[in-house]
Amino acid sequence: MKTLVEFIWEQQSISSQATGEFSRLLNDIGIAAKIVNRDVNRAGLAGVLGLEGTTNVQGENQKKLDVLANNEFIKALRNGKQCAGIISEENDEVVVFDETTTRNAKYIVAIDPLDGSSNIEVNVPIGTIFAIYRRKSVGSSITMEDVLQAGTELVCGGYIIYGSSTMMVYTTGNGVNGFTYDPTCGIFILSHENMKIKDPGNIYSINEANYIYFPEGVKRYIKYCQEDDPSTGRPYTTRYIGSLISDFHRNLLRGGIYIYPGTKKNPAGKLRLLYECIPMAFIAEQAGAKASDGFRRILDIKPEHIHQRTPLFIGSKSMVEKAEEFMATYSPEFQEVYEKSEKK
Ligand code: AHG
Ligand code: MN
Ligand code: MN
Repeated sequence: MKTLVEFIWEQQSISSQATGEFSRLLNDIGIAAKIVNRDVNRAGLAGVLGLEGTTNVQGENQKKLDVLANNEFIKALRNGKQCAGIISEENDEVVVFDETTTRNAKYIVAIDPLDGSSNIEVNVPIGTIFAIYRRKSVGSSITMEDVLQAGTELVCGGYIIYGSSTMMVYTTGNGVNGFTYDPTCGIFILSHENMKIKDPGNIYSINEANYIYFPEGVKRYIKYCQEDDPSTGRPYTTRYIGSLISDFHRNLLRGGIYIYPGTKKNPAGKLRLLYECIPMAFIAEQAGAKASDGFRRILDIKPEHIHQRTPLFIGSKSMVEKAEEFMATYSPEFQEVYEKSEKK
């Protein structure tokens, strides 16, 4: 049995340049995850269900657990001193840590402290998504160049899923590994080594209630998924939880595609580039899967602002490629619509 802490230090020892700072940062995330896991597990008893009474920068109602999880991760990362600041779904601006203690900190973290907030009260899996970037401005103050890096610059992408069991899954660009939390001894243990997605899978995940707003390419792809063609395993089956992490995690283990498209009404879709789509796309690629906005590779998109949204097509490579084919054939005009939407 290998614990998360052992695994992190073992990986560090392989690299000749490693100084231990990244390992400490990842450990800090693991510690905050345990605290949030405890709060999520006891949510119905601990008086932390329901609304906080505030809204975030995107105008979404903040739940008490959104705020609590955000505070726990900020606290752990601030105390750990390995990162100079964070970008969080729950904070309008970049949270810059005390410069006197983090001037030389090498990292910046982007985080969705609680993903799937609408599922908090109903005992459905929720999670935390994080992305770790190397800072460009070590030795001085944080700059926008530090926080607006493309996914190709990512050092680490990961998530913690608080589900029927709690797991941490992450990659540093060297394969994807999953660690299951053992609540009896309070440690994450390596349970899913070098995860690879099944291709093709037979699951498609999309909020079909938005069907009338979807681009023609997405509508046609959904119909393609529903056609009877045993030679390609169709009709596929549909599964949609409404927490990106849970839908992605299931598709990663079983094989499938998750789509949250941009529409004429919401050209950039709903999901956020920096702390939802980029880390998931990095994990997907490392597991042999694919992530795009229907036209462009997610990791190649250069962010223009910290809460930028993007359409997302993610999952088994051949399934994403098929969906892209439908977009190119039936909705080519959306390529420009998607690109323009990110300037806003
Ligand atoms: P968050 O809870 O962090 O705001 O994210 C919610 C996101 C994502 O997790 C999920 O896949 C998507 O919203 C669901 O949206 P719909 O309810 O529109 O399907
Ligand atoms: Mn989210
Ligand atoms: Mn969230």
